[in-house]
Amino acid sequence: MSARKNFSARWTQKDLIGLKGLNSSDLNAVFTRAAQFQKNPASQNLKLKGELAALIFLEASTRTRMSFEVAVHRLGGHSLIFSAQSSSLEKGETLLDTVKNLEALGARFFIIRNSENGIIKELSEKSSSSFINAGDGTNEHPTQALLDLFTLKEAKEKIKGLKVVIVGDILHSRVARSNILALKELGAAVFLCGPREFLSDEFQGLADRISEDLNESLIGADAVLCLRIQRERLKEKLNFTPQDYFKNFGLTEERVKKYARPNCVILHPGPLNREVEISSELADGPRSLILRQVHNGVFIRMAVLSLIKEGRTFKKS
Ligand code: CP
Repeated sequence: MSARKNFSARWTQKDLIGLKGLNSSDLNAVFTRAAQFQKNPASQNLKLKGELAALIFLEASTRTRMSFEVAVHRLGGHSLIFSAQSSSLEKGETLLDTVKNLEALGARFFIIRNSENGIIKELSEKSSSSFINAGDGTNEHPTQALLDLFTLKEAKEKIKGLKVVIVGDILHSRVARSNILALKELGAAVFLCGPREFLSDEFQGLADRISEDLNESLIGADAVLCLRIQRERLKEKLNFTPQDYFKNFGLTEERVKKYARPNCVILHPGPLNREVEISSELADGPRSLILRQVHNGVFIRMAVLSLIKEGRTFKKS
């Protein structure tokens, strides 16, 4: 993140690289703006009118890429959709040179997903454009956590005092890292749960409890954030089958009903592996906020883009 400033009155950072270092005022500034867009989605507040936003997704995406595209469109801007396979990255051009060339075409916003931790921050430091992290390796996925918390706040009215269980492949999850930071900043108790292979000592001192026992973790939970196994990041073959995983760590209506609070809600960033980390009954049932998360993602991304734009004046090339 570029120079740390207070977001509460006005967003004065040029980027959103991560949630590390943001305080509750910063987070609430995004939620307040997102709620305004949610209340009036057809707002004539065309904050990005005349702006070009380059969407550079070097890892697969459905929700994040489409959601940013909708957000840019609703704010009156235009998206440049960058396809890695048909780009000159294939001929060895660097990502920085790609950015510089898209800037020469007029792009001033770069929304980037990449498999390498920290690469978006590095690009930001070499450019005056605005960069939004749409997921960098296992590091952070800030807009996902913002939309998760916005959706949770909508369902529960406040985050402070909630017990939130994050279950699954936490080790490889940028979604978990951003969520842990934001949930703790807003006063939730965060319980992490998964098989030993998916936990890490880096979370000691950050989370309230780390456990390999899902039933015990679920006791008294107000919300559960379920994560998929990130097979694309695994270095070694897992020593359990999908059936074993579902038996020990799969979220089901029966399990949630037995151990969590009666009105416990379920979140998942997607994509779902049904009957591996979550049952279809639960994913499609009344506790599930999963499609609400996707719906709210547009308002969060509109909020981030508009707050960044308000804090900046771009030079035309
Ligand atoms: N939640 C999320 O990042 O989904 P996509 O990978 O489909 O963008």
